Amino acid sequence: MALVDELAELAIEVAREAGGLARLRREEGVAIAATKSSIADIVTEADREVETLIRSRLAAARPDDGFLGEESGGDRGESGITWVVDPIDGTVNYAYGIPAYAVSIAAVRGEPAPEQWEALAGAVFSPPTGEMFHAAQGAGAWLSGRRLEVNAHPSAAGALLATGFGYNPATHAGDLARVGRVMPMARDLRRIGAASLDLAFVAAGRFDGYFERGLQPWDHAAGALLVIEAGGRFVRVDLADNPDRPLFVAAGPGVFDELLAATASP
Ligand code: IPD
Repeated sequence: MALVDELAELAIEVAREAGGLARLRREEGVAIAATKSSIADIVTEADREVETLIRSRLAAARPDDGFLGEESGGDRGESGITWVVDPIDGTVNYAYGIPAYAVSIAAVRGEPAPEQWEALAGAVFSPPTGEMFHAAQGAGAWLSGRRLEVNAHPSAAGALLATGFGYNPATHAGDLARVGRVMPMARDLRRIGAASLDLAFVAAGRFDGYFERGLQPWDHAAGALLVIEAGGRFVRVDLADNPDRPLFVAAGPGVFDELLAATASP
């Protein structure tokens, strides 16, 4: 089996098991364990427990690989491959009982930094719906045996778009200005609250495009591969006012350039 397929298989298997644990813990009741960088940036005990499970399963299957996780940090490994993991993406939804959260697992090669890595495989599992979105480099993006393709919507005019508001309050005025520029041309705008699902939905043609400032590597590692393998485009743009908070734009080819032009300023 090709390496990318092996990695995708492992990502799928571990994401499914981790999603089962997340769902079980959600049913038992969830409490916010700590607030991190801002009031919206929270962690629950389940985030930590699910990440520990994912980390131990990946280490057992591929002991030489590195790891980069939202809750437990990084470890470079020796194989040149790093697993980039968000155990529960959409933690605020999860904590409030809103059924829009996901486990996101990607395998990347090269430096464990998004601008330098090459994504090889990824899985985004949605425990509330049971949907498993997955992709392997060069082998397409898939959902339940169906190959995914981004929408063929021809322009940003009339596009169904999604966005999110990163956790740094310093960028919120700009986030709202971007929404103001985009709304007049869009059909409508969604803010689901889980970036990995936003990206998976672009890949699946459920959204025509998505933009958000300030994503972390684990928020987009698997979802970006889904978009690209489904025929879409994904970029990171450093904005002049705060290069530490890049903007991310994903869309089908018909929408991408106009969406980028409308969003790529602070
Ligand atoms: C967050 C979600 C949210 C997005 C934030 C992310 P988390 O991830 O994806 O939709 O707006 O930028 O950090 O913290 O729930 O894993």
